[in-house]
Amino acid sequence: MISDRELVKMAIDAKNKSYSPYSGFRVGAALLTSNGATYTGCNIESASYSPTNCAERTAFFKAVSEGERDFNTIAIAGSLLEETADYCYPCGVCRQVMAEFCAVKDFRILIAKSDDEWLEYSLEQLLPFSFGPKDLNK
Ligand code: THU
Repeated sequence: MISDRELVKMAIDAKNKSYSPYSGFRVGAALLTSNGATYTGCNIESASYSPTNCAERTAFFKAVSEGERDFNTIAIAGSLLEETADYCYPCGVCRQVMAEFCAVKDFRILIAKSDDEWLEYSLEQLLPFSFGPKDLNK
């Protein structure tokens, strides 16, 4: 299993793939599965705006479309400008996608400012009182 620091570095690297000509806000994510596989993602924008996909969902959709269903940790790095790198928290839609596939108490979210500065949360901390598969008996 790779270290948190390695996962954070992968998220920072994934920022370089960001397609964000409209906002200029570049985001990278690195998702670790329970069996140690990793999937990266970046945000992908659109001239018609609403099809925009966040980095976190890109990573999740890549992984789920490859058959992955069990997840351990996601690292996220995002910033408008390299010099003003700050902590970038996942949007509400991405938190809900995480809740679809992850146990809210166990899934870990690493919010990275640099490869030696990150904050760790559980999904439950970022999405309390969640609605999810359990409410539909799934
Ligand atoms: N974005 C992400 O990719 N992840 C987040 O957690 C926050 C927002 C993207 C969406 C859009 O391309 C840009 O950042 C500005 O909202």
